[in-house]
Amino acid sequence: MLDAVSKGFFHVLARSRALKRLASRYGMAKHASFARRFIAGETTDEALAACRSVQGQGMLTTLDLLGESVGSLAEADAATRAYLQLMEQMAPAGVDPNISVKLTQLGLDVDRGICVDNVRRILEAAKRLDFFVRIDMENVPCVQPTLDVFDVIWQQQYREAGVVLQSALHRSEKDLERLNAMGARVRLVKGAYKESRSVAYAKKADVDRAYSRMMRALLLHGTCPAIATHDPAMVAEAKQIASEHNIPRDRFEFQMLFGIRRDLQASLVKEGYRLRIYVPYGREWFPYFMRRLGERPANALFVARSLMAER
Ligand code: FDA
Repeated sequence: MLDAVSKGFFHVLARSRALKRLASRYGMAKHASFARRFIAGETTDEALAACRSVQGQGMLTTLDLLGESVGSLAEADAATRAYLQLMEQMAPAGVDPNISVKLTQLGLDVDRGICVDNVRRILEAAKRLDFFVRIDMENVPCVQPTLDVFDVIWQQQYREAGVVLQSALHRSEKDLERLNAMGARVRLVKGAYKESRSVAYAKKADVDRAYSRMMRALLLHGTCPAIATHDPAMVAEAKQIASEHNIPRDRFEFQMLFGIRRDLQASLVKEGYRLRIYVPYGREWFPYFMRRLGERPANALFVARSLMAER
């Protein structure tokens, strides 16, 4: 119950332009760096350095140039070009060839056809540079369009891309069955958005149970499964399923977000599991940051404390 309220509250705040202006002014500034716990920085240099540091600790990375819900084709084109430029910079910088993108950043809400073209531009570069491109999953109105775009690129034989499913949604188990049968690569998450009871589980326990069922199906029948969670119970269950079914450790990976549960991250690495860290960066960090606050109200206290400490 508290989870739903907290998610809803922070999603409302995420839409506040005034708050976004205020946060952008103070959140990433050196003297009040509360956003830096979750975001690698605003510049490409900062992001590449953060990836190298994470990789130096024995983990893999996927880099996300933050941005979403663009309102024009010019912005979608600019985001596409920014990703293309970033990809060219990553290999020489010694950073894993793996990025995460949001389709509303590439024009999904503006023109579906152009969005597909933009994804294709990125996938052509991915082919040439040997990259993997994960298409993040956004809120419910974007789910079917995102899967439709994924189907189009899949039919066009692009195999350098994978998608994300959210266990919070009633539909996701069916979606997983279909994607597993196709041989598509899926990242499984619980879901970061506040959704209505008509489409999503209202109780966290139900989201967790669905996660557990989907995780089993993904590990047993999926292609390069990505188990993306910081939940120690889910992590333990994944390890158990893998060991019971003799699934080698290089056949799946855990994924976690930059700055979250570093203790669990370190212990997985120590035990020899593959772990990929999602490293977000860029000037458009506010909505991502608000989702992280919504997941754990204690984070809001952390922000408040760091603001007070600067006074
Ligand atoms: P749960 O919420 O049960 O948390 C388990 C534990 O993790 C908590 O008890 C706490 O210790 C820690 N924790 C979780 N969130 C925290 C936070 N914000 N701050 C501090 N500690 C925290 N979602 C989505 O809708 N679309 C997407 O494309 C993605 N992509 C994605 C990639 C990767 C690599 C990850 C790890 C997650 C996502 N997500 C996502 C986010 C996901 O849906 C979910 O909101 C968060 O991962 C939190 O859920 P957990 O599975 O960690 O479990």
